[in-house]
Amino acid sequence: MLWPLCIWVSLFLISITTWVYKWRNPKCRGKLPPGSMGLPLLGETIHFFKPNTTSDIPQFIKERVKKYGPIFKTSLVGRPVIVSTDSDLSYFVFQQEGRCFQSWYPDTFTEIFGKQNVGSLHGFMYKYLKHMVLSLFGHESLKKMLPEIEKSACKKLELWSNQDSVELKDSTASLIFDLTAKKLISHDPEKSSENLRENFVAFIRGLISFPLDIPGTAYHKCLKGRERAMKMLRNMLQERRDKPRENPSDFFDYVIEELKKEGTILTEEIALDLMFVLLFASFETTSLALTLAIKFLSQDPSVLKRLTEEHEAILRNREDAHSGLTWKEYKSMTYTFQFINETVRLANIVPAIFRKALRDIQYKNYTIPAGWAVMVCPPAVHLNPDKYQDPLVFNPSRWEGSESTNASKNFLAFGGGMRFCVGTDFTKVQMAVFLHSLVTKYRWEEISGGNIIRTPGLQFPNGYHVRLKKKEIQRNLGEN
Ligand code: HEM
Ligand SMILES: *[C@@H]1O[C@H](CO)[C@@H](O)[C@H](O)[C@H]1NC(C)=O
Ligand SMILES: *[C@@H]1O[C@H](CO)[C@@H](O)[C@H](O)[C@H]1NC(C)=O
Ligand SMILES: *[C@@H]1O[C@H](CO)[C@@H](O)[C@H](O)[C@H]1NC(C)=O
Ligand SMILES: *[C@@H]1O[C@H](CO)[C@@H](O)[C@H](O)[C@H]1NC(C)=O
Repeated sequence: MLWPLCIWVSLFLISITTWVYKWRNPKCRGKLPPGSMGLPLLGETIHFFKPNTTSDIPQFIKERVKKYGPIFKTSLVGRPVIVSTDSDLSYFVFQQEGRCFQSWYPDTFTEIFGKQNVGSLHGFMYKYLKHMVLSLFGHESLKKMLPEIEKSACKKLELWSNQDSVELKDSTASLIFDLTAKKLISHDPEKSSENLRENFVAFIRGLISFPLDIPGTAYHKCLKGRERAMKMLRNMLQERRDKPRENPSDFFDYVIEELKKEGTILTEEIALDLMFVLLFASFETTSLALTLAIKFLSQDPSVLKRLTEEHEAILRNREDAHSGLTWKEYKSMTYTFQFINETVRLANIVPAIFRKALRDIQYKNYTIPAGWAVMVCPPAVHLNPDKYQDPLVFNPSRWEGSESTNASKNFLAFGGGMRFCVGTDFTKVQMAVFLHSLVTKYRWEEISGGNIIRTPGLQFPNGYHVRLKKKEIQRNLGEN
């Protein structure tokens, strides 16, 4: 009676031990980088997501780099991962997109963003979509949008200055969401009864959460938020198809034209997924960057002074004091661009960029096995004292004259290589135009919040509340 039990127990123990052994020592035809695979299944996921208030390199990364060096192995959300904090390896990974590496995000992301979003599409389909998106957010298109962006920024600022206090993270998010939604789907929040953005807010709360889909969990709310947003988008698309407009101008019109074409590879599902990703990618990231930018300005009067001077000079040098910002004026904002670069360097809004190795890859003395994920870690580069002197100091002037050097290898805020963020220019225009209106017409004082937390993505848990006041004495800027 006892013998069979003993045999079962020992078999069980042996298989568990082998399994744990295999987990800790993954197979590899070559030499894996050092590192620990953590607990079976869970890996080191919990350490990775542990919240911290520091703006420095995440503790997870820091500890392991110290122990194992700049390239190490780990396991996150059930996947073996090679972490790269080495800017040469990261550069190589970005350059090899589609050859040795391919875009890859954890399964929960794919589930949430839709199986056919830009991030998980490859090859031809990808190039085709990218072309569509670039035509929407490229220079020509942005030039045309400039007056509209300025108008919305002025309108919102005016509105906020009449309130006792304004929460900047949410308010800038709404400003940018409305602009993007208008561009993509001509969504007018004042006319539309349903609040599209609300669904995105529910969506974001659960984005980085444990993927347990039962009522009550953040993940469940996230999926529900996406479902509702997708339903609204689907209805809007259908409405538009039933009632085509005279002058096609937004992304919906573009999609409908494409869908009509013979032999098109675009489907309605792909178009809707893409729309969702674009709406999401645009307002959450840019509003974080803007909120942090204003926080930096509050903390550093000398930077605020210099920024204000640049923008007042633009007004002063204008022939017609009442004309709006021109593209030429936008292009002349040298210090503003340095300020924006410095803000996104320290913001580290995207703390990790994932790829998958398509075959065994030899790098320096290590092998990255086929099928493993590679995680490029922008904060480890942006906060590396060898790349940026006194990396935690906010100093826009460090970017002076950097236009001509090879800064891109050490600047990963917008990714790199073929999958470089398509919204970079859009973000810069929006930030620069908003800052222009803000510093020329308003002053502000901090009221509360403004503290940050990283999980490891940047968050403002208590928002950032300020009081905006119109500058009383508008100097006569038309005359010198
Ligand atoms: C401060 C603002 C922003 C930051 C920090 C940011 C960051 C990034 C990063 C790091 C990537 C690369 C992801 C990867 O390689 O896997 C990326 C890709 C992307 N971004 Fe942004 N982004 C910002 C604003 C925007 C805006 C405003 C849009 C909307 C137009 C946008 C749309 C996209 C899209 C569609 C991709 C995927 C591109 C591709 O896979 O080729 N982003 N972004
Ligand atoms: C946050 O990170 C810093 C350095 O990366 C570390 O010293 C500190 O202990 C961390 N705090 C928490 C609460 O983990
Ligand atoms: C690679 O290994 C060789 C011999 O073990 C060693 O001398 C060399 O420093 C290593 N190179 C790197 C980049 O680690
Ligand atoms: C900001 O960073 C980008 C990417 O490295 C670079 O191309 C650009 O010249 C920088 N801008 C300034 C003003 O330094
Ligand atoms: C910039 O980087 C490219 C690619 O790594 C390299 O070929 C080129 O020599 C670099 N230029 C400078 C000025 O460092």
